[in-house]
Parts: sequence; structure tokens; C-alpha cells
Amino acid sequence: MESPPKPRRLVVEHATGSYPVLVGEGALAAAQDDSVVRQLLQDRAAFVVSSREIFALHGERLDSLLGPTASRQRLEVADGEAAKCSAELVRLWEAMLAGGGKRDSVVVAFGGGSIGDLAGFAAGTFLRGVDLLQVPTTLLAQVDSSVGGKTGIDLPAAKNSVGAFVQPGAVVADTSLLETLPPAELRSGFVETVKMAALLDGELFARIEREAEAGGALLAETFPWLVAGSVEMKAAVVQADPFERGPRKLLNFGHTFAHALETATGYEALRHGEAVAYGLLFALELAAELRDAGETPSLLADDLAPRLTALLTGLDLPPLPELAVGDVLAAMRRDKKARQAGLTWVLPERLGRGVLVEGVAWERVDRLAERFLGLRGLAGNARI
Ligand SMILES: NC(=O)c1ccc[n+]([C@@H]2O[C@H](COP(=O)([O-])OP(=O)(O)OC[C@H]3O[C@@H](n4cnc5c(N)ncnc54)[C@H](O)[C@@H]3O)[C@@H](O)[C@H]2O)c1
Ligand SMILES: [Zn+2]
Repeated sequence: MESPPKPRRLVVEHATGSYPVLVGEGALAAAQDDSVVRQLLQDRAAFVVSSREIFALHGERLDSLLGPTASRQRLEVADGEAAKCSAELVRLWEAMLAGGGKRDSVVVAFGGGSIGDLAGFAAGTFLRGVDLLQVPTTLLAQVDSSVGGKTGIDLPAAKNSVGAFVQPGAVVADTSLLETLPPAELRSGFVETVKMAALLDGELFARIEREAEAGGALLAETFPWLVAGSVEMKAAVVQADPFERGPRKLLNFGHTFAHALETATGYEALRHGEAVAYGLLFALELAAELRDAGETPSLLADDLAPRLTALLTGLDLPPLPELAVGDVLAAMRRDKKARQAGLTWVLPERLGRGVLVEGVAWERVDRLAERFLGLRGLAGNARI
């Protein structure tokens, strides 16, 4: 049997420094010899934040990496999206204080995007900021959320509405941790990669398409290139625009509608990537309408729409849960990116190229959303 390729070491630059991202099978072992990772842990008090479920599955895998620390404490938080709330954040702050946390302590975020977002925000705010090591354990966290420095929590009425940019000191994305991930979680992360590739990397998109056609897109052999390719795309964008003033906004493709769906369904009915898949399908419909109405003629100039639709519908998405259209529309108006005049939408021009379209009228969005959700309702997926 062929031995797996060695883990790769990518470097992400940001305004005040840079950090390595070790990606691939065996990244945890490689990290033990990485000077930046070692420095981050050497003689420090480490607070390892994870859920009971993830500690049980993979807790021991971390122990060898944490060898150089002076002490380590496990801090258990709620599993999944439930971790991202103010109560869990306050519990973490208090546990770190009670556990002797100092300015030179280090937080190790060991889990999916939910734990990464919560623990990252806790690290960025505890004592005005301590170091952070991200050890992502889901495909979504490896391809997307562990890189780029966005952290935060949800409020009941709006997802990701409180947070901060907190850059990690290092990211260790060992793809062998993904072997225990249920298929639905793999699919959720896969959508974020597809989202990025659609607007940023036509070659990667085509490779994903080929794998999907061969039925192998989510097999373990694909993880190293899928994750490394995604981190490269994301790193390039966040380096160019660390605070999301311009091109980084492209990463929000599909997310306006997705966040509204997640909020309207109480964060429980859909996984993030599943909501993003619906958000991408909605964005394609909006783009087609704006193009056909002559408002933004440059949209959807090639065959990206049918190709992206085929990839997403091939994922066997769960049906939309019961929801009230009005709740989705209201949640879009509370979106962080909403301005008085309307929302700025990320829409595709062609494979590998997206644009920000400003000033799309609310009435148009409302009408389309009603149709989009209504059609799925008629198909038996949602009661409106
Ligand atoms: N900060 C960012 O830039 C960014 C980007 C994208 C998404 N996000 C956020 O990420 C969150 C979603 O993250 P997620 O999709 O990783 O889900 P998640 O963190 O909620 O985890 C999902 C489930 O996977 C389980 N799990 C984790 N690792 C496992 C493993 N190795 N084996 C088996 N089970 C495992 C967890 O126990 C949990 O039940 C959302 O809140 C989203 O807003 C943030
Ligand atoms: Zn996302």
C-alpha cells in the first residue's frame, strides 16, 4: 500500500505576524517537532477546550503534543453549536481564572468549528488575550474555521453576532482525526470547500467534481488534498484582506441565507454546512434573476450554476425543517452585514470568480425567498 503523503506546512501571514498550518495525516506527530508549536506550548499552562464526546474519541491523541507544557487542564464545554453561547463563554473565563490562568497561558481549541469559535473568543478576551492553538477535528474546521482568526458566539436572535478577530499561534489539522466523523458532518465541511472553490479556484472545483462523479469525494484518501487545497485558498484570501473589508467577503458566498435559516430554526435543525448548501442554491437563483432582469448582467456567465447545483444536490441534503418564512426574512434583516439600504450579496460571475452586489432590494429578496422555501415546501420538505 502507498504510504500517505507527509503533512504539509503552510504559513498564513497577518497584520502582526504569521502562523503555521500543519495539514495532513500525521500532522499531530509532525507538530511535536515544529518550533512554532513547541514554543507555543513550552512551559505554559495549557487549557484544552473540548466536549466530552471529542475528548472520549480523540483526547489521548493530543497528549503527546502537549508534552512540553508545564501543566494542562481539560475544560469541557457543550457539544456542537450549543457551545457557542454566552453562558459557556463565561464558564470558560471563570474556569481559566480558577485554574490559575495567566497572561502566558495557552488555550488549545480541540474540536469542530463550534469549539474553535468559542475557545478562540475566550482566548482573545481572557486577561485581554492569551495564545491560541487550534487543533480542528471536523472537516469544516480543518478546511475553513480554524484559519483566518474569526471567533465568536451566537445570540439567540442572531448567529455569530458577538465576536472578535483572534489569530491562532498555530493550527494543527490532522486529517486522520476525521476518520471517526459521521458522513453528515463530512458533508457539512465539504460544502464549505465547494463554496470556496466555486469562487476562488476553478481547478480545485473541477478536481472535486471528478472525485464526486467517481463517488469518492468524501473518502479518507481525499482529505489531505481537500484540506490543504482549502487552507491554501482561505489563507490567500485572509492574508490579502484580514479584516474583511474587500475580497474576504467572497467567503460569505451562500452565508446570508444560510445564517438566516440557522437562526430561524434555532441552530438545531441543520448543520452549518447544510444550511450553506441551501444558501448557495438560493444565491444561484438570486444571481439568475438579477442577470435576467438586466440589473447585473455579468452574473452567471458560464456553466457554474448547473455544475454547482449538481454537486450540491448530489449530496443528499436533509430536507428543510419546518420554518416560518417570516422568521427567515427577519433574520436576514438582522444579519451583521445588513445595511439600511439592503444587503450586499456575494454572487458568482463564473467559475473561479465572484462579485459583491450591493443594494439588492429587500422586496426582491423576500419574494425569491418565499418562492425558494415554498417550492421546497411543495416538494414535501417544509411546511410554510
Ligand atoms: N470562524 C470561522 O471562520 C467559521 C467558518 C465556518 C464555520 N464556522 C462555524 O463553525 C461551526 C460549525 O462547525 P462544525 O461543522 O465543525 O461543527 P461542530 O463543531 O458543531 O461539531 C459537530 C459535531 O461533530 C462532532 N465531532 C467533532 N470532531 C469529531 C470527530 N473527529 N469524530 C467524530 N465526531 C466529531 C462534535 O462532537 C459535534 O457533535 C458553526 O458555528 C459555524 O458558524 C466558523
Ligand atoms: Zn460557513
